[in-house]
Amino acid sequence: MRPSHVRPARRLRRRGPAGIMLRVRALRLLRRRRASGVSVPGPSGPRHCSSGPLGVRDDAPGARAFFTTPIFYVNAAPHIGHLYSALLADALCRHRRLRVPSAAATRFSTGTDEHGLKIQQAAAAAGLAPAELCDRVSAQFQQLFRDAGVSSTDFVRTTEARHRVAVQHFWGLLEARGLLYKGLYEGWYCASEECFLPEAKVTRQPGPSGNACPVSLESGHPVSWTKEENYIFRLSQFREPLRRWLRDDPQAVTPEPFRLAVLQWLEEELPDLSVSRRSSHLHWGIPVPGDDSQTIYVWLDALVNYLTVIGYPNAEFRAWWPATSHIIGKDILKFHAIYWPALLLGAGMSPPHRIYVHSHWTVCGQKMSKSLGNVVDPRTCLDRYTVDGFRYFLLRQGVPNWDCDYYDEKVVKLLDSELADALGGLLNRCTANRINPSGTYPVFCANCFPPAPGVAGPSARAQAEDYALVNAVATLPRQVAEHYDNFQIYKALEAVSSCVRQTNGFVQRHAPWKLSWESPVDAPWLGTVLHVALECLRVFGTLLQPVTPSLADKLLSRLGVSATERGLGELFFLPRFFGYPCPFEGRRLGPETGLLFPRLDQSRAWLVKAHRT
Ligand code: MSP
Repeated sequence: MRPSHVRPARRLRRRGPAGIMLRVRALRLLRRRRASGVSVPGPSGPRHCSSGPLGVRDDAPGARAFFTTPIFYVNAAPHIGHLYSALLADALCRHRRLRVPSAAATRFSTGTDEHGLKIQQAAAAAGLAPAELCDRVSAQFQQLFRDAGVSSTDFVRTTEARHRVAVQHFWGLLEARGLLYKGLYEGWYCASEECFLPEAKVTRQPGPSGNACPVSLESGHPVSWTKEENYIFRLSQFREPLRRWLRDDPQAVTPEPFRLAVLQWLEEELPDLSVSRRSSHLHWGIPVPGDDSQTIYVWLDALVNYLTVIGYPNAEFRAWWPATSHIIGKDILKFHAIYWPALLLGAGMSPPHRIYVHSHWTVCGQKMSKSLGNVVDPRTCLDRYTVDGFRYFLLRQGVPNWDCDYYDEKVVKLLDSELADALGGLLNRCTANRINPSGTYPVFCANCFPPAPGVAGPSARAQAEDYALVNAVATLPRQVAEHYDNFQIYKALEAVSSCVRQTNGFVQRHAPWKLSWESPVDAPWLGTVLHVALECLRVFGTLLQPVTPSLADKLLSRLGVSATERGLGELFFLPRFFGYPCPFEGRRLGPETGLLFPRLDQSRAWLVKAHRT
């Protein structure tokens, strides 16, 4: 039996001096909730207060946001580091879509970087024509991203005609503005990094025949001395404008240590940059307009992809530039935070709005590389841990500021404890037929859980920790949004996970399995405990959508939350506590579809094998 009538909290608050106290406290809580950016129904319906990943009020109607991943080299198959870059961008983009649901407000591009010496050499080594290698590996990236739920709206290949048009137009602008000149360029060139290196960044290592070979100090890849007449970009002119840009916009490059690193680089002189190579040496690329003897430098070619996908050079691109957030790994920071903004300024455009930088995944403390044979195949991981499981692992464990070490046991431990036991267990506890035989979202009783602790009638059962839980979950969406703004997605997931633990503590504390629906004393409180726990789960499900879309869908469907009730604008946690009606109260739960996330227990054959080796 469930309580058939709950006295509205607002009416309760009107009575006598104690009522006034309650009202004041409830209003204080409500104000705190509003300040925290959680949607709160006001006189004219729910409102949502938020500034978005683009800083101030990017969720205003009509505001646009454009997210990009780097475009990936096609010299080798994708690994988990590549997937991580793409998933970070995907989660940011999905979170943005939850704030601003209009499909026309958000774009998200990824793609493959197919030109340059590196690809030309990899194709020759594989005995393939470059185009054949590009088709093959680009298809692998596309398939992987589809399978991993990367929700990009465009996939660009630098070998496409639309891209050649964009690059050649961009080149023309630089030339017309007097920013290119022809000169003799000489130095060490590293094909693997596709850049010239100063002498200080080159060291000698014994090669296969025992001779000392010059290699890049940072990556250990071979370098070769190159002396050519090239087109050169007047990069040196942009040192001061770049410093100003980075000083004026402290969030331009996030997290902060990476912005400081760029400013540090800019303390030193900025030499001009070679932006073409002799075609006889590099034929696999886009020719310099009007000079077939030169091929455009692969980094200039690659960076322009960010314009190609928004329709450049057609005027339509202006709607999306510079509302752009680039997600990149730390190894390509200089290209994105120095060369690219300088090229853009040179072409008369603004630098990108945000550059979000992440660190790398290592394996046993070492860089992943084909030669070391330690490359972790993302396909195998998606199969073993499920798409949502592996997405959760990478985004929960990957910390932008530091490298993170990968090993299988870590994945199993994390997913078993956080998704299977804590979250799945909580859902199961609150929806199991034994405890919730009516299969509905139970009614909240304001007398059992009054708007403030301490000032309570005889039916009040809520304790101080329960109020702490309500406060924690009420402020969670705002906290999560702030972590997304700061590109700390792992912290957003940590905050959700901590609230899941707190909610399990709440359920454990009140042991609803010991309460009876038949007892007129227990029933209102039993309903309230389940109602509060389901409300917490609804918030967790909504906030997990950007990271674990299928699992969140399963969770929200089980709670009976419809597709139109899953945005952040609709996320008003526990309205009954604040004296507002709850649309879910009394609603039927969705059908039972099994475990939310099955445990990846130790009996799995592959795991036993991994332990042995
Ligand atoms: N083609 C250039 C990018 C051009 S963008 C205009 C490139 N490609 S890449 O395939 O080498 O790297 C693509 C992304 O994957 C980069 O952000 C890089 O940091 C990331 N990762 C490559 N190895 C990685 C790890 N081991 N861990 C995490 N990310 C890593 O650079």
